[in-house]
Amino acid sequence: MDTRDEATPVWKFSARAQALTGSAIRDIVKKISQRPDVISFAGGLPSPATFPVDRIRAAFDSVLSREGKAALQYSPTDGYAPLRAWIADTLSTNGARITPEQVLMVSGSQQGLDLLGKVLVNEGDPVVVETPTYVGALHALGIYGPRFLAVPMDEDGLDPAALPAVLRRCADGRRASFLYTIPTFQNPTGRTLSHARRVALVDQAGTTYQTLLSMRPEGVVHLGSFSKILAPGIRLGYVVAPLALARKLEQAKQGADLHTATLTQMMAYDIIKDGFLDTHLIATRKVYAGQCAAMLQALEEHFPRGATWTRPAGGMFIWATLPAGIDAAHMLDAALEANVGYVPGGPFFAEAPQANTMRLSFATVTPEKMREGIARLGRVIKACSK
Ligand SMILES: Cc1ncc(COP(=O)(O)O)c(C=O)c1O
Repeated sequence: MDTRDEATPVWKFSARAQALTGSAIRDIVKKISQRPDVISFAGGLPSPATFPVDRIRAAFDSVLSREGKAALQYSPTDGYAPLRAWIADTLSTNGARITPEQVLMVSGSQQGLDLLGKVLVNEGDPVVVETPTYVGALHALGIYGPRFLAVPMDEDGLDPAALPAVLRRCADGRRASFLYTIPTFQNPTGRTLSHARRVALVDQAGTTYQTLLSMRPEGVVHLGSFSKILAPGIRLGYVVAPLALARKLEQAKQGADLHTATLTQMMAYDIIKDGFLDTHLIATRKVYAGQCAAMLQALEEHFPRGATWTRPAGGMFIWATLPAGIDAAHMLDAALEANVGYVPGGPFFAEAPQANTMRLSFATVTPEKMREGIARLGRVIKACSK
């Protein structure tokens, strides 16, 4: 600390901190959320209609009655053993055996991204990402100074055939630290990596729709989360990694926050241990499927010729590509004037942003408002195309 002026201390920020910027998307979402008159497709929040509030209350009650003070004590960094065992068991599919020792509980899968950056990325290391991609991953990993290399995508997800050319761009023979992909219901596009491409990506044959983890457990790190299947406010996620990497991540987590909340892990395990998710996920999927169908219908009716969009089989987002020449970031002011909001697509690209793209969340807006909001947006796009 520079103490020249004690009343207003000047902090000597690390080079890492100096490079930090707030997320552009958070700023946009915040600006839009302050305008209650705006129909917003900008947020990334799951639908509160899917949160099992009563079941969570009952689980907290039963854990506190059963475990008492143990539920409020410090606990191991790697996580609550029964929950880790349940996750390992659930992910042991297609003949792959995942052991509880490979599972590290984290405070939201977002923490998993940070820990991976910390233990795998040196300044300047190549990190390969599909593009566009989850902006929170670019933020979390970006702190460690990687050189992002973008692999193009189409309707079937990232294109493995494009990988060799991307990897040839690794300067001075440096190996890429890893490839980051969201294979199912991707954020922001809603796309799902096809089975053939999963096989090509991990270079292994298979016949059914499989997790990348089960196809190559020794080479894949799997990030999972309870945010969209229970509730995001509980901040509970997990990393599944090959043993040596799992231990390194555990050491990094120990320094970061000792462990993820004991009570929360016990509560989540109490809920899921007897098959609650089997029925809960059916209801959750139904909510999102209805919302997605309503948005697709509204897009058909109101978006102009020349605009295209994804048709997700799950998740929360539709990715729209507007007629060439329209800059979705510039168009946002006109949209807000018409009382409708969205997230411009640019910040989701690791390289070469496509300005004529936007992310539309269908998770929380009611179908009636959705129709009205998409109609407004369609009019704004048409006015901008002239
Ligand atoms: C692809 C992806 N990864 C990670 C996260 C962060 O989730 P969590 O709540 O598990 O930290 C999100 C949140 O929307 C996401 O879309």
